[in-house]
Amino acid sequence: MRYGHFDDQQREYVITRPNTPLPWINYLGCEAYFGIISNTAGGYSFYRDARLRRLTRYRYNNAPFDVGGRYLYIRDNDSGEFWSPSWQPTCTKLDKYECRHGMGYTTISSSYSKIEAQTTYFVPLGETLEIWKFSVTNRRNKPAKLSIFSSIEFCLWDAQDDATNFQRNFSTGQVEVNNGVIYHKTEYRERRNHFAYFACSEKLAGFDTQRDTFLGAYRSWDNPAAVERGKSFNSVAHGWAPHGSHHVKVNLKPGETKEIIFVLGYHENPVDKKFDPPDSQTINKQTVKPVIAKYLKGKNVVAAFQSLRENWDGLLSTYQVQSPDIHANRMVNIWNAYQCMATFNMSRSASFYESGIGRGLGFRDSNQDLLGFVHMVPSRARERILDLSATQLKSGGAFHQYQPLTKRGNNDIGSGFNDDPHWLILGVGAYIKETGDWGILDEPVQFENEPGSEQPLYEHLRRSFNYTLERIGPHGLPLIGRADWNDCLNLNCFSDTPGQSFQTTTNKDGKVAESVFIAGLFVMVGKELATIAKKRGLNKEAERCLAEVAKMEKVIYQHGWDGAWFVRAYDDFGKPIGSKVCKEGKIFIESQGMCIMAGIGLKDGKARRALASVNKHLATKHGIVLQQPAFSKYYIHLGEISSYPPGYKENAGIFCHNNPWIIISETMVGNGNRAFDYYTRINPSAREKIGDLHRCEPYVFAQMIAGKDAPTHGEAKNSWLTGTAAWTYFTATQWILGIRTEFDGLRVDPVIPAKWKGFTVTRRFRGNTYVIEVKNPKGKQRGVKKLLVNGKEIAGNVLPVLPPQSKPIHVEAVLEG
Ligand code: BGC
Ligand code: NOJ
Repeated sequence: MRYGHFDDQQREYVITRPNTPLPWINYLGCEAYFGIISNTAGGYSFYRDARLRRLTRYRYNNAPFDVGGRYLYIRDNDSGEFWSPSWQPTCTKLDKYECRHGMGYTTISSSYSKIEAQTTYFVPLGETLEIWKFSVTNRRNKPAKLSIFSSIEFCLWDAQDDATNFQRNFSTGQVEVNNGVIYHKTEYRERRNHFAYFACSEKLAGFDTQRDTFLGAYRSWDNPAAVERGKSFNSVAHGWAPHGSHHVKVNLKPGETKEIIFVLGYHENPVDKKFDPPDSQTINKQTVKPVIAKYLKGKNVVAAFQSLRENWDGLLSTYQVQSPDIHANRMVNIWNAYQCMATFNMSRSASFYESGIGRGLGFRDSNQDLLGFVHMVPSRARERILDLSATQLKSGGAFHQYQPLTKRGNNDIGSGFNDDPHWLILGVGAYIKETGDWGILDEPVQFENEPGSEQPLYEHLRRSFNYTLERIGPHGLPLIGRADWNDCLNLNCFSDTPGQSFQTTTNKDGKVAESVFIAGLFVMVGKELATIAKKRGLNKEAERCLAEVAKMEKVIYQHGWDGAWFVRAYDDFGKPIGSKVCKEGKIFIESQGMCIMAGIGLKDGKARRALASVNKHLATKHGIVLQQPAFSKYYIHLGEISSYPPGYKENAGIFCHNNPWIIISETMVGNGNRAFDYYTRINPSAREKIGDLHRCEPYVFAQMIAGKDAPTHGEAKNSWLTGTAAWTYFTATQWILGIRTEFDGLRVDPVIPAKWKGFTVTRRFRGNTYVIEVKNPKGKQRGVKKLLVNGKEIAGNVLPVLPPQSKPIHVEAVLEG
């Protein structure tokens, strides 16, 4: 069954029934203020850090799992009947319902009993607030007397504490209500200088700020006492659960529409100007009042919405494709790029699968996220690179995560994931290729955020590379540490204690277990670093890098090749993992993808051989599984990977993140048909037609699709915040469509299905717009032999960087095989 459809013109996904298999969400905000919103208006908001500056409350693992939310109620004051125009929380059967998730906004429209309602939720650019633009229309042929109630539940800032520390929190909640604006100021009296506010454009008939008064005892959001009786209680919260609800009375003639604007926002006051009067405990509202007044005006809201739309037009116009495949087009042109923005902003912190109270920004995750983001806002990518590298340890290792608010390494999880530092080289390489900004390498950057420890960014890359050289195991392969990319291959953990963290428990000294994956990654980024070094005139250093890379390649051939595929790792006993000698876990996807992307086996057929093995053992119609055979029981020497039932997550799930590595590898051996086929298998738009099986949003990639060993094979989970976003985007744009950023220009090297007659890409790159027309008259999969640039042939297939031209540069490329 379908639950909606794409509206590519508007860049929206239109959900046509509220009860989607799972809440299908969108993100509001893309700078500092963020919200998650589901198709029934569920979700929450926060400022920068979903844990430490949470504005509204979310009820964890609830049923349904998108409660609380940004709720409105409409009450017919003649009949006393009331309903939610977003369906939840009253779940009244609506006569019409539609939710449009767009780029940074969501509009939910409905009709019930001839009363139409529409709410658009969005965050204006540059602001720390969200707007709910609500309109209600009377389609009856008689007047309608209505009451509108809003409802949000404030979170007491630290969302972890909020969810656990009731003995304190039930006594700390404080609000102020002033001029119809509800201010949430819990803990403002002590060390906070920020507060939240919830405002409404209309004259209020009443308000409530105490949740339990608004709801009434033993009631929930489906029948709040205030709404049922048609009158707020004007409650002022003292402790318990501060809440925000406005009550507005609206009388509408037939055909009449009324617009109401609600503004929910976050505001900070200067520490010495918190109170007004200064010796009081009353919030100083002088600084926030102008912001509130601005956005309670309809015309400012319209203008802000327009700017948001235009901003996205600009961001997306950096790369647009017209190909014969509608699913590829809409992912590349709209949704995959949009998802890359979300992963850049959130890393893996806040979704309905990531609690927002757990993980900060991952070092490896954030570096990989750059691959899909850097072309949209290079300046933010630059800032992220510098923030990330400032958390790097002097040893070259990395804090596995950092908190976005403090930008400091997270001590709880620490370091020791031995792949981490290498991703910095990848991220920096991608940034320079996009921008040509070699200057970033000279930026002084601290180690471990320690003042005085500054070294040029380039030194950070050097230490990243050396980190592995200083951690080589018995076979000459890199030691794995706590884990490599696969957080669940915990070869030094040996945990037999229930509940112990696989991520942080280490019971072995780590001198034996090795990773072929890191070896491949080392070779890949080592080549990159050598190129960078050469460009900086550091020839000796470049040579040294290449010599180490060559040495590692040799070791991979010797100890990392299993006969028909690459071995995955060596365990603490020195035995291979991901080898034909294993009973389970004979072949893994990661080392195949990473070694081939590093160029290993391209010349001698090993790459093709490994890819054939992937196709034979790992490929399914829903994507490529992580390994086979799945682990049927817990193996103490392997760790979390074997904790999952077969077919889920790292234990032979289709871990979409690394499918693109195989797709890139297929393009590297020139197999356009298979590359595109694999891409389509996990493409959510192409899977829309199997929505009942897939269940997650059809407009964003999911981290995981259940593998063939799972009873729910084909079911997606963990949508939105996944490295899949950046890698699929990077793969589709740079390797399949083949418009690839390089240090010296834009390579045109498509590897496409033979049946494609061609395609056109418009790419903004280093100050110019290229309109690249690829023609494939002979039905080839690869092979641009010549390029015509504005009608003139150039040698090779790299478009050189040109001074900015006044007009788009027209490029024609013909595939000749
Ligand atoms: C998940 C991994 C994830 C890790 C992060 C594990 O439980 O399976 O995918 O990377 O947690 O902490
Ligand atoms: C998700 C994590 O965010 C990522 O860092 C890791 O590489 C994969 N899971 C695989 O375990």
